[in-house]
Amino acid sequence: MTEVAQTPHIRPTAPIASTVLLPGDPLRAQFIAHTYLDDVQQFNAVRNMVGFTGTYRGREISVMGSGMGIPSISLYAWELIHVFGAKRLIRIGSCGAMQPDLDLYDIVIAQSASTDSHFLHHYNLPGTYAPTGSYRLLRAFDHAASERHIDVHVGNILSTDVFYNAADDVNERWAAMGVLAVEMESAGLYAVAAEAGIEALGVFTVSDNLVTGAKTTAHEREQAFTQMAELALSVAGK
Ligand code: HPA
Repeated sequence: MTEVAQTPHIRPTAPIASTVLLPGDPLRAQFIAHTYLDDVQQFNAVRNMVGFTGTYRGREISVMGSGMGIPSISLYAWELIHVFGAKRLIRIGSCGAMQPDLDLYDIVIAQSASTDSHFLHHYNLPGTYAPTGSYRLLRAFDHAASERHIDVHVGNILSTDVFYNAADDVNERWAAMGVLAVEMESAGLYAVAAEAGIEALGVFTVSDNLVTGAKTTAHEREQAFTQMAELALSVAGK
């Protein structure tokens, strides 16, 4: 009998597709799978980081929680790519806007992801690496949004390790460099994908604006998330 590959964090009980959507929250992965996919099978339950595979418009797609932060998403991305053959990873999450003209619920695509994390140091590069999203996925997502008359912001975002910051001018300094928004995962995802030569993209809805102090409610966040998830599925289903 051939052994099914497994890792410390993924013990597959069903196939994993080559395209995987990665919301931070595993319950969102479950929601997407049960709302949008046909013939759904759960493939992972380790640490309750549930993952599912099904079909969307006839194409096999998986969706799995990534957890929060670069250490979490980077280990799942690494295992999905190197052990389970993933070729396209799309993070769908939320972000805090760092520019005043980004409204709540707006969609942001991370063309590139700056970071305050030391994760990139382990590649031992002789300079500053610029984590960059897949242009092909970015273009496809942008196209899907404009077909539906949905505006998106495309640019550099910050993947931070620090949610509760003790210093108070940090956001302003990143914002002064044109950084659009802050989240906690994409720089790690992009680096892991780049080293493996596969495609990755991070897309987010604005859940709060750090300049104006505006915040969404949980219910509103859910609705904005759904629109973004539908866009990501239409890209993944192509
Ligand atoms: N910081 C980090 N990640 C986030 C934030 C934030 O303010 N909002 C949504 N994701």
